[in-house]
Amino acid sequence: MIGRWRERLGALTGPRAARPDPEAPAVEARGLRKVYRSGAIAVEALRGVDLRIERGELVAIVGPSGCGKTSLLNCLAGLETTYGGEILLTGIPLRGLSDDRRAALRARATGFIFQQFNLLPTLSALENVELPLLIVGRRGAQARARATAMLEAVGLGDRLDHRPSALSGGQQQRVAIARALVGRPAIVWADEPTGNLDSESAAEIMALIRRLNREDGQTFVIVTHAADVAANASRLVRMRDGRIVADEPTGAAPAEARTTTVPLAADD
Ligand SMILES: Nc1ncnc2c1ncn2[C@@H]1O[C@H](COP(=O)(O)OP(=O)(O)OP(=O)(O)O)[C@@H](O)[C@H]1O
Ligand SMILES: [Mg+2]
Repeated sequence: MIGRWRERLGALTGPRAARPDPEAPAVEARGLRKVYRSGAIAVEALRGVDLRIERGELVAIVGPSGCGKTSLLNCLAGLETTYGGEILLTGIPLRGLSDDRRAALRARATGFIFQQFNLLPTLSALENVELPLLIVGRRGAQARARATAMLEAVGLGDRLDHRPSALSGGQQQRVAIARALVGRPAIVWADEPTGNLDSESAAEIMALIRRLNREDGQTFVIVTHAADVAANASRLVRMRDGRIVADEPTGAAPAEARTTTVPLAADD
């Protein structure tokens, strides 16, 4: 199964694939609108969002339930195809890309920690974390070693062979975090990454995120309800009713942006 995915994505990451511009902001949204329609009812989840996030920033997005945080993250990450306005991911306009090219750009440059984890139920923790590496062409032994190290870093070195159904909610969340971080993508999107963790595990995960942000210059965009998570960010974006109502630095020092942070290449 993995071989087939790799073959398919290998074709997509060839020379004709869109190349991230290392000088461009990590992501930029202009006049972003998102409407969900079910039957006669339309919900305006995003009502004109302008946002520019530079490489190396650690941004927290906060706001009441239903204000559009997940919708915004999904749009920025290239997971939505129907929206108004423009999104540039690493300088590349998402609207111009085919589904396959968009998927390839996501796989090469980004990692996503979903609010609902989205782990593959038939794969072990280790296999779930290896998957993004195999998709972009890492060799098996190297992928295994890296995935093991990343699971150890999130405190799950003794749960490598467990399937998601045999893990607690907090443990599944940590597998999802390891999966998003393992390829050291230039940009990591995280939707409530500590929502299911006790305060001690949450603090450990945030320490890991801060370290990766500081040392590798990885960009993190984190949706959270937790004040202590937001306090780790260098910038706080507040949303309400589908709009950004405040956007300010927190005083925490941002990482020095390293434009050399490469999206995972096949053979480095
Ligand atoms: N697939 C969908 N179909 C219809 N409406 C949707 C869909 N997804 C989200 N919405 C609506 O869009 C609005 C924004 O939802 P969104 O999930 O972005 O909020 P959120 O800020 O992430 O909330 P929470 O903090 O509870 O996760 C809500 O009113 C929600 O009901
Ligand atoms: Mg949400």
